[in-house]
Amino acid sequence: MTTQELPIAFIGGGNMASAIIGGLLKQGLPASQIEVVEPFAPARDKLLTQFGITAQEVAGAALARAGLVVWAVKPQTFSDAAAQARPHTGAALHLSVAAGIRSDSIAQWLGTGRVVRSMPNTPALVGKGMTALYPRPEVTPADRSLVERVIATTGDHLWVEAEEQLDAVTALSGSGPAYVFFFLESMTAAGVEMGLSHEQAHRLAVGTFVGASELARASQDPPEVLRERVTSKGGTTYAAISAMQNSGMDALFRQALHAARVRARELGEEFGR
Ligand SMILES: NC(=O)c1ccc[n+]([C@@H]2O[C@H](COP(=O)([O-])OP(=O)(O)OC[C@H]3O[C@@H](n4cnc5c(N)ncnc54)[C@H](OP(=O)(O)O)[C@@H]3O)[C@@H](O)[C@H]2O)c1
Repeated sequence: MTTQELPIAFIGGGNMASAIIGGLLKQGLPASQIEVVEPFAPARDKLLTQFGITAQEVAGAALARAGLVVWAVKPQTFSDAAAQARPHTGAALHLSVAAGIRSDSIAQWLGTGRVVRSMPNTPALVGKGMTALYPRPEVTPADRSLVERVIATTGDHLWVEAEEQLDAVTALSGSGPAYVFFFLESMTAAGVEMGLSHEQAHRLAVGTFVGASELARASQDPPEVLRERVTSKGGTTYAAISAMQNSGMDALFRQALHAARVRARELGEEFGR
């Protein structure tokens, strides 16, 4: 980071902020270059013990030095937090990780268009996040580069050029870890029903997701080819995949993602006012 970009300020010091802060410190950014505003005392204590960062209870003059302000508050508290911080955020670039809050609302609350809205996901907590980023037109190439360097500490990222695509991102990768956990639960339960111990079934299920995902990422072939390669007609995988196809699971699963996108849109309406 350059001296104009530093320090980096975080409004909200919870899970998401901690994932990014942990990544930045690991990369060698000194804790003295990170400002955090966090009203909840136990969360401030945690930041101190975990990272050696003394967080502020309320937004104050210390924020004025920040080149980048990261918004990691719950959607319902964003507008209040913005009203408190706005007098102090000067000419900073803003990066929001708050689900659903539109960049128009953020720009209006903060009085600047230099806003990047993002949708991360929980694997960011272990450096394996997948984040989509949307830049408002006022965001410069240098701004984009700063945001990329910060988000890269939590995993992978991609840019979207239309903000409404973030609702689809929310439905796919934002909520996606829960779908994986759901399948893990089912696979583990089935393993136990068939005579494995819970621990064995859990290890087999998690290992299979990690391995198959790595294979899909590394392979030149799309998932359907990888699937067909292990599905010989009349075999065991064929029996399972046929059962899933006959039950209409594919259509149901797609419907579930559409439901998540509808909810993402509603949240934007609800908290954007
Ligand atoms: N966790 C994820 O994986 C994930 C994924 C995608 C998107 N997001 C989004 O990221 C945002 C943050 O999520 P999170 O999981 O990090 O939530 P979190 O752990 O609850 O963190 C939010 C923090 O902001 C604090 N806060 C509340 N009002 C504030 C104010 N006025 N000024 C400064 N800080 C304030 C909260 O304190 P109090 O406890 O006192 O309210 C809380 O510690 C949410 O909008 C969420 O939708 C999270």
